[in-house]
Amino acid sequence: MNQPSNCHIVVLISGSGSNLQALIDASTSSNFKISTVISNNQEAYGLRRAEKYNIPVRIINHRAFKTREDFDLALRKAIDEINPNLIVLAGFMRILGSNFVSYFAGRILNIHPSLLPKYPGINTHQRVLDDGGQEHGVTVHFVTEALDGGPIIAQEKVSVLDKDTSSILAARVLEKEHIIYPKVVTWFAAGRLHMRGSQAILDNELLPPTGVPMKYETIP
Ligand code: GAR
Repeated sequence: MNQPSNCHIVVLISGSGSNLQALIDASTSSNFKISTVISNNQEAYGLRRAEKYNIPVRIINHRAFKTREDFDLALRKAIDEINPNLIVLAGFMRILGSNFVSYFAGRILNIHPSLLPKYPGINTHQRVLDDGGQEHGVTVHFVTEALDGGPIIAQEKVSVLDKDTSSILAARVLEKEHIIYPKVVTWFAAGRLHMRGSQAILDNELLPPTGVPMKYETIP
């Protein structure tokens, strides 16, 4: 299944959108194009970032829906109208239900600020510090019904330093996020990355459980 050379992506955000910015920056010289940015939060700063580059935005406020399923359905319809090749969750802080996830199976990526399977969920940086962890990082994975549990595509580690606070550590992890996410989207857009069953495949090779180590020199 090869993707067209210009792969259209929809980016879902809830907040600052620094990962969105990294994707916007990469898209100008890469093989993917951001068709639309969707947010569940009309205050999300990422919406301003998108507007600055004339990228269409849509707000679908989850609070306007009675149930999670109703919100998911509205989101699904909006995305169907756009008909993207890929859905990229970039700081999208809503849990997507199994109907949504199975409908778009193999076409949803997420970035999570921990070395999954460690620290799924929220407040990852503080939890690492509270546990006295020495190593932390970021994971990009395909989205499945398991929360933060889909097949891992890539991880990047950072060391935890004595002077770290949650926000200092978060900033260092974000620097890695901004490198790793555009790279993975580029692989998908080139038709090199797929989800098969519950496994991630890159260049016809099954990826190990921790994903491909990010060796930028050797994996363009
Ligand atoms: C990022 O650290 C991202 O990994 C995290 O939210 C932040 C969004 O930052 N995502 C999650 O925690 C998803 N479970 P951004 O809005 O500046 O890209």
